[in-house]
Amino acid sequence: MSDDSITSILKEDRVFNPTAEFSSDAHVKSLKEYKKIYKKSIEHPEKFWAEKAKQLHWFKKWHTILRNDHGFFKWFEGGELNISYNCLDRHVNAGKGNKLALIWEAEDGEVKRYTYSELLAEVCKFSNVLKGHGLKRGDRVCIYMPMVPELAIAMLACARIGAIHSIVFGGFSSDSLKDRIDDCEAKLVITADGTFRAGKIIPLKVNVDLAIKKNKSVEKVVVVKRCKNKVTMKKKRDLWWHDEISKDNIEDTCPAESMHSEDSLFILYTSGTTGKPKGVLHTQAGYLLYVYQTFKWVFDAKDNDVYWCTADIGWITGHSYIVYGPLANSSTTLMFEGVPTYPSPDRFWKIVEKHKVSVFYTAPTAVRALMRLGDEWPKKCNLKSLRLLGTVGEPINPEAWIWYHKIIGKEKCPIVDTWWQTETGGIMITPLPGATPTKPGSATLPFPGIVPAILKEDGSEAKANEGGNLVIKKPWPGMLRTVWGDPQRYKETYFGKYEHIYLAGDSARYDRDGYFWVMGRNDDVIKVSGHRIGTAEVESHLVSYKDVAEAAVVPIPHKIKGWSIYAFVTLKKGTKGTEKTRKNIVAHVAKEMGHIAKPERIQFTDFLPKTRSGKIMRRILKAIAEGKKDVGNTTTLADPSVVPRLIKGRIK
Ligand code: WTA
Repeated sequence: MSDDSITSILKEDRVFNPTAEFSSDAHVKSLKEYKKIYKKSIEHPEKFWAEKAKQLHWFKKWHTILRNDHGFFKWFEGGELNISYNCLDRHVNAGKGNKLALIWEAEDGEVKRYTYSELLAEVCKFSNVLKGHGLKRGDRVCIYMPMVPELAIAMLACARIGAIHSIVFGGFSSDSLKDRIDDCEAKLVITADGTFRAGKIIPLKVNVDLAIKKNKSVEKVVVVKRCKNKVTMKKKRDLWWHDEISKDNIEDTCPAESMHSEDSLFILYTSGTTGKPKGVLHTQAGYLLYVYQTFKWVFDAKDNDVYWCTADIGWITGHSYIVYGPLANSSTTLMFEGVPTYPSPDRFWKIVEKHKVSVFYTAPTAVRALMRLGDEWPKKCNLKSLRLLGTVGEPINPEAWIWYHKIIGKEKCPIVDTWWQTETGGIMITPLPGATPTKPGSATLPFPGIVPAILKEDGSEAKANEGGNLVIKKPWPGMLRTVWGDPQRYKETYFGKYEHIYLAGDSARYDRDGYFWVMGRNDDVIKVSGHRIGTAEVESHLVSYKDVAEAAVVPIPHKIKGWSIYAFVTLKKGTKGTEKTRKNIVAHVAKEMGHIAKPERIQFTDFLPKTRSGKIMRRILKAIAEGKKDVGNTTTLADPSVVPRLIKGRIK
């Protein structure tokens, strides 16, 4: 976030109380009640979580609630359950088979609906397909799909048979897909012939073909026919989804594997400080319990809710709060294939009206973009069904918060600004909508059982409003268990700075009321439209372009996206920094990594600010890119005279 918006947040002191009507019916009804629950939850966290865990269906009860195994945390050891069983069979067995589980709206407006019984049958059929191709517990399945129901079905089917899914966001390129498939040694890939985006067909299967060209682990590729796009099917390797599930021997029942609490559930790759994305690993019981309980309290789950989270399932928000959290609570979850503004700027609001959405969860970047298009679009639609709003992914600026509150929430819907991460599995700092008075721009207070703190570099606790590193002091059930194939990296990244304390990688402060204000990343991660992009990964794709010698990437504030990418690029001798070169470089990054990683601006330069030992000083580049007059201390630079020259060449 820019300094201007930080200042505006520091001045923000408006407080919004939940309405009496909302509170009286909520799971947690007052701040007093929250405080009581919170106090108990952190005095006896194991007791608190064990109590909640009883609401799930266990094939076998646990014997140990929590164990620290040399820095690797284990929850509910001895217990056995299945997340797909908990999301489907449990509700069907309880007589809710006819309740709507999933509503899907396609980009062209087509709608499909699945009751809990129907979804269970589809999941069982696909589980049997997977088993028929030799998939078993512990095998990895890579899912690279558009937002179609088959994506949710595929996840739940993997979970049902104990296979580990690793979903790769459909906006990633074949190269990024290849790295992820190779790293987890996937045995099977599920994809689609293509997807629609703002009326255009985006191919997906061809990216899979490229990604697995030299791969040895992938045995089969299952392809969903979505847009009748022409694809090449490799004999014996590639199979059509619709052929597979309609085979005579495919039954619509399939027993759920009894999984140990700490068996792996899924891997989700996310950007970190070094180039290679990290495979964040989540396991069965703790993750399920955590998304179950957070969904219930944060979104105040009610039996007649229609809940819509606009994220893509390729990110953690979609895993936890489109699929697992809502289904574990027997809610009706809506899944949308398209974008907010196609075919017209009121697409989101039309969906709310059409399906009578009651709980709506989106990203601040979407709120800002929709706000810019003018109030007339939401005002044309009937948004009366809405009772609760949420945001996730980045700080929300007070201006956007107020617009969301007034124009979308009609000043009656509480807003839950939820702070969390891929690694945390679920929501960590958040209002509870019936209990917590909100302040625009603050994620407010910790969820029960969560102990956040702000630490200074030396490990001491920061005082109110002082600011520092956001950490979590106690383990929680939804936390990542390790980095796939690299336990050392797990220890170093998350527990390397402060002993036994989880480092989030964000800077934040708390105010005099104990409310948390998250400022943004303090590592080499840029949040572009809420998507998590590693600068090192972008840089490696920049230098892989034939004419680029060296590159350094920094974030700059962006009105809609929150942040965007500014790249300093040194070209190889003999190449000129023309507009054509710039365009080619941007296209190269889009092709190699994906559109979301495209640099917004490129400054060509013959020199980068380096220390005497050759380290690029990104702090200085960041100040230059942001147009700051004072770029800070430059005395450690090998050649401080590069600074004024770089300032002169800044791209506005
Ligand atoms: C940022 C997304 C401020 C933060 C669920 C975090 C937020 C990163 C908020 C994780 C929020 C997420 N306020 N910042 N409410 N929510 N962030 O792994 O920088 O894609 O570290 O998970 O998003 O991004 P990730």
